Amino acid sequence: MKILLLGRGGQVGWELQRALSVLGEVVALDFDATHNPGGLCGDFTDLAGLERSVLQVRPDVIVNAAAHTAVDKAESEPELARAINALAPATLAQAATKIGAWLVHYSTDYVFDGSGTAPWKETDATGPLSVYGQTKLEGEQAVASTPKHLILRTSWVYATRGGNFAKTMLRLAGEREALTVINDQFGAPTSAELLADVTAHALRQLQNQPELAGLYHCIASGETTWHGYAQFVLSQARALGLPLKAGPAQVAPTPTSSYPTPAKRPLNSRLDTGKLQAAFGLTLSDWQVGVARMLTEISGK
Ligand SMILES: NC(=O)c1ccc[n+]([C@@H]2O[C@H](COP(=O)([O-])OP(=O)(O)OC[C@H]3O[C@@H](n4cnc5c(N)ncnc54)[C@H](OP(=O)(O)O)[C@@H]3O)[C@@H](O)[C@H]2O)c1
Repeated sequence: MKILLLGRGGQVGWELQRALSVLGEVVALDFDATHNPGGLCGDFTDLAGLERSVLQVRPDVIVNAAAHTAVDKAESEPELARAINALAPATLAQAATKIGAWLVHYSTDYVFDGSGTAPWKETDATGPLSVYGQTKLEGEQAVASTPKHLILRTSWVYATRGGNFAKTMLRLAGEREALTVINDQFGAPTSAELLADVTAHALRQLQNQPELAGLYHCIASGETTWHGYAQFVLSQARALGLPLKAGPAQVAPTPTSSYPTPAKRPLNSRLDTGKLQAAFGLTLSDWQVGVARMLTEISGK
């Protein structure tokens, strides 16, 4: 199997380089062509270059891990967000159809309006609150136009590599006696590792069961708030012996309304993963498992 991976340097892209390697040859592109094999274009603002790359590599599978993920910044640069999150995925979908390739794409809980308390199902009506959410929705709709597609909607992604919420909490708790964190947004922190592993398993199965093509929700099990997430991070950090000024008891809860941001966030980011687990025979472990593992890794203990 020949796989063209786009966005190789992101959280998910980095883990995909590892997870996809057992499936065959992976041609992994960055958005800077000077770092790419043969100078191939992986820049999502260059649609013609992107199409040329697909036609030149002629992969069996295209995996798109690139995105404009700066949610607040997207509000002030909607055209760039649309180019990267919607127009480039549409180009990939057209190119995939041309060469008969599979297209794997990632989307987000931000396609929903965050109302209610029930986990969102794939069939629920969307209603994005932000430019990021709207452009991601347009992107997944474009990807769904090619028959051999796999779209995984996920939430609250973290990875050992790069910055993330847990690392920010560790840093702040090392500097301050007390922290204040939002406690009315509900979701599940999901590791880039999990997403990459699920992608590899699903791709393997899709080769024999192409009828499983479609849209799936993929997040870790269980649920929490950013406040609960922060408390868990600090209690684990304590147990690992990391130096902290503030512990879990010093994390005060606050509502989203007290913390205005350019982009509106959904309060209910719960996603129902029943369809994915049943279709691919997978088990998604509780969010604490992955977060504890990441903290152990970054602590070097
Ligand atoms: N992060 C989350 O919490 C979250 C939640 C739900 C869904 N998702 C979705 O999951 C997928 C993977 O996200 P992630 O967390 O791995 O994001 P990420 O770490 O921000 O990675 C995105 C990658 O896209 C690259 N990129 C940005 N502009 C580009 C351009 N013009 N051309 C090509 N590449 C470009 C980035 O490069 P630079 O780093 O050099 O800019 C980065 O390598 C995305 O589809 C995202 O929408 C993420």
